[in-house]
Order: sequence, then structure tokens, then C-alpha cells
Amino acid sequence: MQCIHTIAEMKSACRRLAGKALGFVPTMGALHEGHLSLVRASKSRCDVTAVSIFVNPLQFGPSEDLAKYPRTLDRDARLLEELGVDLLFVPRVDDMYSSGAKTYVLVDDLSDKLDGASRPGHFRGVATVVAKLFEIVRPDCAFFGQKDAAQVAVLRKMVSDLNMDVELVVCPIVRETDGLAMSSRNVYLTAEQRRQALVLNRSLLRVRAAAEAGEHDTAKLIKMGKQVIAEERGARLDYFVIVDPDTLDPVADISRRTLVAVAAYVGPTRLIDNVVLAARS
Ligand code: PAJ
Repeated sequence: MQCIHTIAEMKSACRRLAGKALGFVPTMGALHEGHLSLVRASKSRCDVTAVSIFVNPLQFGPSEDLAKYPRTLDRDARLLEELGVDLLFVPRVDDMYSSGAKTYVLVDDLSDKLDGASRPGHFRGVATVVAKLFEIVRPDCAFFGQKDAAQVAVLRKMVSDLNMDVELVVCPIVRETDGLAMSSRNVYLTAEQRRQALVLNRSLLRVRAAAEAGEHDTAKLIKMGKQVIAEERGARLDYFVIVDPDTLDPVADISRRTLVAVAAYVGPTRLIDNVVLAARS
């Protein structure tokens, strides 16, 4: 595995691959099985796999966890090497954002929904860095996790609106055996909070079960989901929504494919999870 730190070197390494299908997995590191599932998906579909590790300051709010975000580069590099990754790109912040940069990518409207509503500027930061990474790497396919469902909606729209030549491949949420969605932020949780965090998945399972039992009214389903969260005193709800997975707009019933998404604070840690309900005939 070649580990590259500069944009210029990464560009030339990627341009040399002409004719080979290049798969790309952007990450912020502190890798877990969720990230590794994306790498495996890329390995199985593409000839060459590139991974980036970059804790992107532009997508963190001023009171968020940029400084304490876990950084485990040596371990991450070892895991990626073992999986047979070809290129690892670890750019420096001042290389990615040279002073005086004035250009941002804003996916209007979508960026203010779900996590964007509680994290102003977050999706502008995500779209900007992913657009930059796509331009540096120019991948054929890029792999993202369904865990960040709103991020997927924002990036799909960016790729379509800017006519980018990249196929987005979305991979399923990887969970711990007890159902907790894997996240780099789970390391912040105490043992007690770790147990309380299971309420996110529990609320989604409750709603899915009710939907499968015939309740199609989203107002009622949302009420049920919120009720489950309210029963866990260690959790504070941010949002519980049932929306169209592409527009992130609320839907009145679940006849079409819908996204049920939840965000909640457990202690100071903000966690997210979701399930997709298939269209009903
Ligand atoms: P990060 O949180 O490191 O996640 C990198 C990728 O891993 C994202 O596509 C995310 O959805 C996916 N992922 C995380 N947890 C997962 C899980 N439990 N199961 C499946 N996939 C999972 O998302 C980002 O970084 C950044 O916003 C980034 C896109 C890299 C831009 O900075």
C-alpha cells in the first residue's frame, strides 16, 4: 500500500491508473467494521482501491468535537494494508485548505435538513471536501455508508447537479451484535451510555414493526418512535423523522420507499441511526 500525503502526488498516482476501475472510500479515520465494509465493497467491484483519511475541519461546528475526534492513523493504516488497499491518501489540513480559499460546494435546501438543521454548515463542509477529493482522485466508483443517510442524499444531488463522472455506491449499516450502529464516536460513550445508546436502534425497530403490522400513518409512527426515545432517560432526542430518502422531505404515509431516521444525544455525544422501509404495493 502506498501512503500519500500531498495532493500533487495523489493526483499523479491516480492518473497513472488509466484504464483500471478505481474505487474510492473517503473517511475521517478511526476505522471500524463499517468503514472496512466499504473497503471490501470497493475491492470486490474495482481493480484498484484508494482510501482517504482526513478529519475535515470544514464539516465541524465551532462547539463540536474536531479537537477530540479520535485519530488512530497507525492502526488504520495497518487495517487497510491487511485488506489490500492500494492507495492511502492522508492530506494535511493546510494542503487541502490553503489560506484564502473562497470556494465551497453548497447543495442548497437539502443541506439544511436532518443533521444539517442541527449542524449548520456541516453539509457544506462535507460536499466541499468530497468534491475536492473526487477531483483529486477522479474515481469511477465511490463508496458511502447508509449510516449517514442524509449525507448520501446530499452527495447524490451534488454528483447529479455537477455532472460528476462517479458512481456512488451505498453500503448497508454495519452494527454491533446488540444492534448499535458502528460509529467512530462510540468510543466517547461510557459503559452506561453505551447501554443507553441502544435506544436509537430500538426506536427504529419499534417503528418498523408497527409499519409491518399495518400502521402506515407517519404521524403515528413518529409518535411511537419518539415515545421509545423518551423512555430512556439518558437520551435526548434531536430528531425523529420519516422522509423521502432523496429529498429528505417529510412524507404523510409509507406507501413509497421511506427513510426513518433518528438522531439523539447520549450524554454529550450525538448519535444517528436509520432504517429504510421498502415501498408497499
Ligand atoms: P466517516 O464518519 O469516517 O465515515 C466514512 C464512511 O463510512 C461514510 O460513508 C459513512 O457513512 C461510513 N460509515 C460509518 N459508519 C458506518 C456503519 N456503521 N456502517 C456502514 N458505513 C458506515 O462520513 C464521513 O466520514 C465524512 O463525512 C466524509 C464523507 C469522509 C467527508 O469528510
